[in-house]
Amino acid sequence: MADETVIIKTILFDGQAVGNIACFEMFGKREVGYWIGKEFWGKGVASESLKQFLDIALTRPLYAHVAKHNAASQRVLQKFGFEIIGEDKWSPNPNEGEVEELILELK
Ligand SMILES: CC(C)(COP(=O)(O)OP(=O)(O)OC[C@H]1O[C@@H](n2cnc3c(N)ncnc32)[C@H](O)[C@@H]1OP(=O)(O)O)[C@@H](O)C(=O)NCCC(=O)NCCS
Repeated sequence: MADETVIIKTILFDGQAVGNIACFEMFGKREVGYWIGKEFWGKGVASESLKQFLDIALTRPLYAHVAKHNAASQRVLQKFGFEIIGEDKWSPNPNEGEVEELILELK
């Protein structure tokens, strides 16, 4: 949050903070990421948040890394024009296995 190149927004739903959405640089590329509180899933919150955020975070191309099993997030990204361009692996914890990810790009 101290990095001035980062854009980060709180997501409000009915006036309540329910998540966040951010854009940041990772390995020289602009990346978007978001997180919605579980009790608010399936209400279109991520979709509306990404739609509004793409009018604020104007850098293109814009990238996202999504776990392969996270079909809901892939759907949200693809609704707004992100396309799958590759695959990656990420180890959130050295003691746990790797998470297989898809890399998506918005041109
Ligand atoms: C992934 C996440 C952001 C989705 O948020 P959400 O507010 O529930 O998403 P929305 O309601 O806007 O849209 C979900 C879409 O995925 C679809 N979907 C949900 N589950 C699905 C599944 N198992 N398979 C395919 N599509 C699915 C929904 O139908 C909807 O698409 P639609 O609008 O065409 O009907 C939310 O679950 C989350 O915060 N998860 C934890 C953090 C995370 O994964 N962040 C993203 C990292 S890239």
